[in-house]
Order: sequence, then structure tokens, then C-alpha cells
Amino acid sequence: MFTFIVTRLQAAGCIFAEDETRLLISAAGTPAELSAMVDQRVTGLPLEHIIGWAEFCGLRIAVDPGVFVPRRRTEFLVREAAALARRGAVVVDLCCGSGALGAALAAAVEHIELHAADIDPAAVQCAHRNIAAAGGHVYEGDLYEPLPAALRGRVDVLLANVPYVPTDAIGLLPPEARLHEARMALDGGADGLDVLRRVVAAAPLWLAPGGYLLVETSERQVPQTLDIFERSGLIPQVASSDELDATVVIGANPNGQNTRQ
Ligand SMILES: C[S@@+](CC[C@H](N)C(=O)[O-])C[C@H]1O[C@@H](n2cnc3c(N)ncnc32)[C@H](O)[C@@H]1O
Repeated sequence: MFTFIVTRLQAAGCIFAEDETRLLISAAGTPAELSAMVDQRVTGLPLEHIIGWAEFCGLRIAVDPGVFVPRRRTEFLVREAAALARRGAVVVDLCCGSGALGAALAAAVEHIELHAADIDPAAVQCAHRNIAAAGGHVYEGDLYEPLPAALRGRVDVLLANVPYVPTDAIGLLPPEARLHEARMALDGGADGLDVLRRVVAAAPLWLAPGGYLLVETSERQVPQTLDIFERSGLIPQVASSDELDATVVIGANPNGQNTRQ
């Protein structure tokens, strides 16, 4: 059975066919369920949507159909945020998707006050499940709009992995993303930076003195991203990881002392 499934997955183009087979076998309750799951995988449904979870920063994150699957590279953004967040920090995970970033930061830093928001109701529902254990709050709406006004000027760490794929490049994404993740989770507008511009423009209103905004971006978008941060008065820095092929821009709110000790 194992070899038969591996062969089917390999023929369908799955690179990690053996690992995937193990995961499918352990997720299926019955042989019939396993067979249905393999069929779904062969047609290109992301493994995470089939088994219902993704591994992220060592955590098992629930991922419902259509919700953005947290990427391994985004673990770098969490790592950078964890280095800046102190115990008790007020953290907002904007465009939270499954809530993976907030959940991982809550696991890495003690007693953070966690808030997360997304415009997609399916993502919000999923995030509720993932950050409930950390006592996090989840809101539904456009960027900052659903956040409680009381958070203004109090946010120590603002995480935002926004959609940043240029519209014309969506067609070049692997089918798993293009066909099975919500378009609004991927499409960043003509240059990929539309949502990012809106997030950065309003960030100084929400950040505490000395607070930080962290966004993931592509290497190609770095010069424009730095310019966008500077225009809004944040002091940007670039961090990158060759290992995870990840680039993060970190903007410090200059009004006050940094929270990093
Ligand atoms: C690239 S996904 C990232 C999800 C999650 N942060 C992660 O890294 O796994 C972008 C998310 O932004 C959300 N989004 C897009 N436009 C938004 C908006 N205007 N307001 C709030 N969320 C938005 C999408 O629904 C999607 O969940």
C-alpha cells in the first residue's frame, strides 16, 4: 500500500512523496478515507488542506480549505519578531490567515497580549482555533478597521505577512497556490505592494513608541518597501535568511525607546 501511494504521488509530481504518504496514512481513519485523500492529492489539492494542518515553527497549525497555508520561509519573520518582543508585549498579527504567526510568537515569547485580524471569514474562523490557547483575540475586517481603538499607540510588535505577489505573476505560482488558496491571500496588486502600502501608512497610528512593524517581502521588492517605510516615518532595516530564502523588513517607530533590551 505504502509503495503504491508513493508511486501515485510521484507520478502526480509530489517531490516529497514518501513523507506525504506517511502523513496521509496517519491522517486517514479508514482505507476508504485514505484512498479519497490520495485522490485529492493527485488532483493537486495542497497536502495541508487534505490533512487539515500544517507544521509551522514546530507547531501543528489548523488550516481549513481555501485558507493560506503558512510557508516555511515565514518562520524567519516570527524568529525576527521573537527577538524584538518582550514578555507581556502587545502583538498584532495583521492579515493573519490561519493565525500561524501569532500562534508561533505566543509559543516563543511568554505572556504576549495577542490580537489577530483578517478580511476572509474562513481565515478568521481558522485563526480562532489556532490562537485560542494563547488567549488571543481574532477580528474580521479590512486591515486595522476591526481592531479595538484602545490598541492605538499600544502595539509593540505588528506582524503583517500581507499578499505581495504582483497581479501579473499570479499565473506563475504553483497550481497548489493559484487554484486552492484564496486570490485575496496572494494578490498584492500591480506591483505587489498595494496592501503593504496601506499597512505601513497606518502603522505609526497603532505602534507604541519604540514599537516595530515586521513584513515579509521579496528580495526584488526591498528597495520600494524601504521607501514606503521611510515615507511613513518608520526607520527600516532589512533582515534575510539564505537558509529559508526569506526577506523581512523591520520598521522601528522612532517615537520613544525601542522595546528590545
Ligand atoms: C499571504 S496570506 C498570509 C497569511 C498568514 N499571515 C500567513 O503568513 O500564513 C495574506 C492574508 O491577508 C489577508 N488579507 C488580504 N487583504 C486583506 C485586507 N484588506 N484586510 C485584512 N486581511 C487581508 C488574506 O485573507 C490572507 O489571509
